[in-house]
Amino acid sequence: MKIVEHSFERFAPQLPDPIFGLMAQFQSDARPNKVNLGIGMYYNEAGELPVLRSVWLAKEFLKERNQPSRYLPMAGYSEYCCAARALVFGDDADTECIATIQTLGGTGALRIGAEVLKRHFPEAEVWVSDTGWDNHLTIFSNAGFSVRRYPYLDKGSYTVDFEAMYSCLERLPRGSIVLLHACCHNPTGADLSKAQWLHLAELVRDRGLLPFFDFAYQGFAVGIDEDAYAIRLMERQNMAFVVASSFSKNFSLYGERCGALFFCCQNERQAGLVQGQMEYAVRGSYSNPPLHGADIISYILHETGLCDIWRTEVTEMRERISGMRQCLLDVLSRNSARLDYYRLSGTRGMFIDSGLSPTEVDQLRSQLGIYLAPSGRLCLAGLNQANVEMVAEAILDIVDKRSI
Ligand code: LMR
Repeated sequence: MKIVEHSFERFAPQLPDPIFGLMAQFQSDARPNKVNLGIGMYYNEAGELPVLRSVWLAKEFLKERNQPSRYLPMAGYSEYCCAARALVFGDDADTECIATIQTLGGTGALRIGAEVLKRHFPEAEVWVSDTGWDNHLTIFSNAGFSVRRYPYLDKGSYTVDFEAMYSCLERLPRGSIVLLHACCHNPTGADLSKAQWLHLAELVRDRGLLPFFDFAYQGFAVGIDEDAYAIRLMERQNMAFVVASSFSKNFSLYGERCGALFFCCQNERQAGLVQGQMEYAVRGSYSNPPLHGADIISYILHETGLCDIWRTEVTEMRERISGMRQCLLDVLSRNSARLDYYRLSGTRGMFIDSGLSPTEVDQLRSQLGIYLAPSGRLCLAGLNQANVEMVAEAILDIVDKRSI
C-alpha cells in the first residue's frame, strides 16, 4: 500500500481577519490611551464591556440552582428557543409555522441556515448589500454559494439608495436568496424606512425571492419591537423567509455565543420538514449547542421583572450610542470645512463611516492607538465623554491634511 505523506507545507497562508485580527492587535497594544472602535462591541461610559444587571441577577439565580451540565437536544434549549422566537416575531406570531433552533451566535445561525439552503436550493445565488458585512461573503461562499452584491447606499445623502436596490432585486431570477439587515445596517447604519420595507416585501413575494435576515442588533436602532418591523411584517403576510438572530450585543454576552435560526414557513408541515433539516445540519456540525448562555437569556426573558430590567438596559445602551453619534458628528461638522458629516445623523446602530481610507485608518492606529475597521467603519459604542473629542480631532487632522 502506498503511504501518502501529509505535509502541512501545502496549506495556504491565511491573512488575519479584518475585524478579529484588529482586536488581537488592539489587545497587545501597550499604549494606555488606545481606543477600540474596530469590532462591534458595546463599551459603557467607563470604557468597559458591561455585565448587564439583568444578566448578573440571572447568573446568581442559576449559580444557586446549581444544575448539572447536561447535553441539550440538537435544536437547543426549548425554553430559550420559545423566548427567542417571541422576542423576534412578537407574541402573536404563528409559532407553529416557524422552525427554530438555538445557534452559536448569529454567525452560527447564518452558517447553518446557509448549509440547509445550499442542500435544498443548490442553484440559487445569494445577494448581499454593497457595502455590507464581509463575513456574509465568507459564510455563504464557504457553504458553496456564489455570492453577488446589490447596490445599497447613496453616498451623497447617506441613505439607502432604494431605487437602485429595488431595480437590481426585481431583475433577479426567482428563488434567489437576498441577505437583508433587519436593522442597524452593518457597516453603514442606513436602514430602510417602513414604507420601503413594505415595497420590498411586495417585491420579494411577487418575484419569488427568499429573504434571509441578519438580525444582530435588535434594540439598538429604535426599540426591541420596533426593530423587528420588517420581520414581523413578512411573518404576518405568511411569507417564507429566514432569520439569523444574535443576542451577543443586546445581552452583552459575546462569549456565550447565543443566537437563533428561524425558518418562517407557509404551513406547519413545511416547518416540520425544515426543523428536521436544521437539526440534521447541527448534528453533523457541533451536535448540539451549549447550555449556559441560553439558560441565562431564557431565565431573563421568562421572568417579567428581570425582562423589564433588561429592556431598560437595552434602552440605555441605545441612547448612549446615539449620544455618542451626536457628539462625534457635532465636533466633526463644526470643524470640518471639507466634509459634511451631518448627513450621517440619520444613521442607526453601532457603526458610522468615518470617511477615512485604509491608509488613513492605519495612520490613526499607528500614531494614536485609535483602532477603526480597515474599511473606515467606526464603532460608536467604543466612544465615551473622555475620548470622543480626541477621536474627532484626530479624524479632522487627517481629513484636513488631505488638502495639503
Ligand atoms: C462586527 O461586525 O464587528 C461584529 O459583528 C463582530 C464580528 O463578528 O464581525
